Amino acid sequence: MSGGGRPPVEDWGALWAPYDEATYRAALAYIQPGWVVLDIGAGDLRFARRVAAMGCRVYAVERQPDVVWQGLKRGLPPARLSIVIADARQWPFPSGLDAAVLLMRHCADYALYVRRLREAGCPRLITNARWRMGVEEIPLAPARPFREGRIGWYACVRCGQVGFIPGDPDDLTPEVINSYNNVEGCPACMPAPPRESYLATDTLHPEGSYDRNRYRLA
Ligand SMILES: C[S@@+](CC[C@H](N)C(=O)[O-])C[C@H]1O[C@@H](n2cnc3c(N)ncnc32)[C@H](O)[C@@H]1O
Repeated sequence: MSGGGRPPVEDWGALWAPYDEATYRAALAYIQPGWVVLDIGAGDLRFARRVAAMGCRVYAVERQPDVVWQGLKRGLPPARLSIVIADARQWPFPSGLDAAVLLMRHCADYALYVRRLREAGCPRLITNARWRMGVEEIPLAPARPFREGRIGWYACVRCGQVGFIPGDPDDLTPEVINSYNNVEGCPACMPAPPRESYLATDTLHPEGSYDRNRYRLA
């Protein structure tokens, strides 16, 4: 950061700041003792230490060595906490993970992490990166296709996009409003093909516009 002002939002992931106790408790509640857990962007290890104290094997990945060093001043971590000073976007994730934790509300690399965690066989991600609010547990198994989503809020497992699927207002019950569809392949992660190829193959919209969702989800 320079100039003392706020950094552009895409750089916020580069900053270290701890979360509040409520956030840590919410994340810990999703973790079972004995799990193998990857903490992505572990900061000064304060959360990773608590996971290790539950009897978990923890890999804490943090790219800022000085932040880790601050945390180490509070004492050596237990042997079951492995500290990795690396860029989590490139460091090869270990196999055998039960969960990954991504406490990084302004993470610009959510989609990359999900793809790499799936490749590593990790079954769940505990994060505040998707809604940028509270902590949730995201199953990393294939989610329901976006086109099958019902009216209401949705959140895409693959790319992290959130939004609202329109529908019949009579279906908008309090239960629907207070829940969300976990979906896969939303409009944001299924880019539209070049305009020319659309116009060449679809004559239903001679004026050149197209139904974005209809086309993308075909
Ligand atoms: C908002 S802080 C949260 C720290 C920690 N998760 C916690 O809750 O106390 C985000 C941390 O992620 C780290 N980080 C961001 N991008 C990273 C990357 N690509 N690889 C490793 N660490 C990263 C930052 O350096 C920062 O320490």
